[in-house]
Amino acid sequence: MEARIRIVRLSGDSPHVATLAEWTHDAWGHLHPGRSLETAIALLREECGPAGVPSVFAALDGDTPVGTACLVADDMSDRRDLTPWLASVFVLPEWRGRGIASRLVQRVEEEACAQGHGHFYLYTPDQQPLYRRLGWRDQEERDYRGEAVTIMRRDFVASGADADQSISR
Ligand SMILES: CC(C)(COP(=O)(O)OP(=O)(O)OC[C@H]1O[C@@H](n2cnc3c(N)ncnc32)[C@H](O)[C@@H]1OP(=O)(O)O)[C@@H](O)C(=O)NCCC(=O)NCCS
Repeated sequence: MEARIRIVRLSGDSPHVATLAEWTHDAWGHLHPGRSLETAIALLREECGPAGVPSVFAALDGDTPVGTACLVADDMSDRRDLTPWLASVFVLPEWRGRGIASRLVQRVEEEACAQGHGHFYLYTPDQQPLYRRLGWRDQEERDYRGEAVTIMRRDFVASGADADQSISR
């Protein structure tokens, strides 16, 4: 655990938005042919909501971003029946393997749960083991934009006499 890493919510005017958009545009821009970096930055700014869906989180080392994850309404254009989504989980290569993505995912889970969502979704081509360890389960295998991916689902369960929602670990 990297105790010095803070997970923070980003507002649309944060100087870090452009950095995060650059990472995710480099990683997944091919899924959005024709989308420029400027458009990706503008779209990410719009996703920097004050709470709930949409929200953008960053992992910061001091004031330097090293990772990101988002909670968005829609991440799969032909599956608008599924919502909301954990999306854009990314950690800089030199910071990987230290639990930072796990903390980002858990922060997004807390956000979705606190907003009363009973479950939410993600899709991944190759990170299923990471998410399974964090309590996600496989829902569907499919091809999406030329890639074999797994849609995964995370359920939140009611617990205690007052049936407050909580995250099942
Ligand atoms: C996938 C990705 C987000 C994982 O980020 P990460 O910060 O390395 O993830 P974590 O550290 O939480 O977990 C990854 C591994 O580190 C291990 N780990 C967790 N905490 C650790 C710690 N304190 N010390 C050492 N290892 C640790 C985990 O067990 C896990 O093991 P694995 O290699 O067998 O999977 C990162 O590799 C990445 O950005 N990849 C490119 C983009 C991408 O594929 N995103 C996912 C899209 S679905």
